[in-house]
Amino acid sequence: MNGVPRYTLDDGTTIPAIGLGTWPLDDAQAERAVRTALEAGYRLVDTAANYRNETGVGRGVAGGGVPREEVVVTTKLPGRHHGYEETLASFEESRRRLGLEYVDLYLIHWPNPRVDKYVDAWRAMIRLREDGLVRSIGVSDFTHEHLTRLEKETGVLPSVNQIELHRLFPQEELRAFHAVRGIVTESWSPLGRGSVSLDDPAVAEVARAHGVTPAQVLLRWHVQLGALPVPKSADPGRQRANLDVFGFGLDEDQMAAVARRSPRRLGGDPDTHEEF
Ligand SMILES: NC(=O)c1ccc[n+]([C@@H]2O[C@H](COP(=O)([O-])OP(=O)(O)OC[C@H]3O[C@@H](n4cnc5c(N)ncnc54)[C@H](OP(=O)(O)O)[C@@H]3O)[C@@H](O)[C@H]2O)c1
Repeated sequence: MNGVPRYTLDDGTTIPAIGLGTWPLDDAQAERAVRTALEAGYRLVDTAANYRNETGVGRGVAGGGVPREEVVVTTKLPGRHHGYEETLASFEESRRRLGLEYVDLYLIHWPNPRVDKYVDAWRAMIRLREDGLVRSIGVSDFTHEHLTRLEKETGVLPSVNQIELHRLFPQEELRAFHAVRGIVTESWSPLGRGSVSLDDPAVAEVARAHGVTPAQVLLRWHVQLGALPVPKSADPGRQRANLDVFGFGLDEDQMAAVARRSPRRLGGDPDTHEEF
């Protein structure tokens, strides 16, 4: 459609290999960012109830001049709504704010294992998909253990797991598990949220070799790992550049040079982090 390859999910739907992140934009910023991103060729947008910008994202999608069915709109269930009925009600609120008839990809935002209600939430997600209100269902920040429990108790594995993934935290084991089980890995904070990654000398050297920017090297690294990065940019020029990562390739040494040896998280540990 626009030169961006697509991943096929285990439910048969396809989604673009890169998308736009929208945290921490407010409604007005998100509306502008989504419009310019759609103009640039993005066809996947990532938001969440907790970003408080679903209204702006929905307006951007509605006014972006791209047919609704071409845009993969992702939103996420907040931790405070993990029960079965609560999930159904929370989804309705998200759908209303987005102004959409259906949501393409609905994710459980964090597992919040101490609360121990993510399986109830998952049953409701399955129901939403059966009812046609959601095209695809997935999770975010789930570990191997959380994913296995969902499958054991419901028989249904998520189509997508959106996880912290960047050159400082390459997540080899979880990605390998996803690959075996047919779960698409989405990368949040794919640029490593700033200068530690963008100004790294090893990344700069690879960028020079290809005549591209450090951000493009980092995003290309995700694509070649088979992951789906959702870089956030509100700047139309950087949005365009971030999408332009399908015309060059990193060799094995360059892939290895990008990833740091000692992994380091920037965000919370899903086993203990709680987000409501
Ligand atoms: N599921 C979760 O728990 C979770 C957690 C965190 C994030 N997310 C999602 O993942 C998305 C991305 O993560 P993130 O926003 O934390 O980090 P990120 O995408 O790695 O980095 C975003 C930062 O990089 C800048 N930037 C973007 N493109 C650039 C370029 N080409 N050159 C230089 N700087 C550039 C942006 O500024 P400008 O806007 O000025 O370009 C922004 O400050 C979020 O927006 C959100 O949708 C999900």
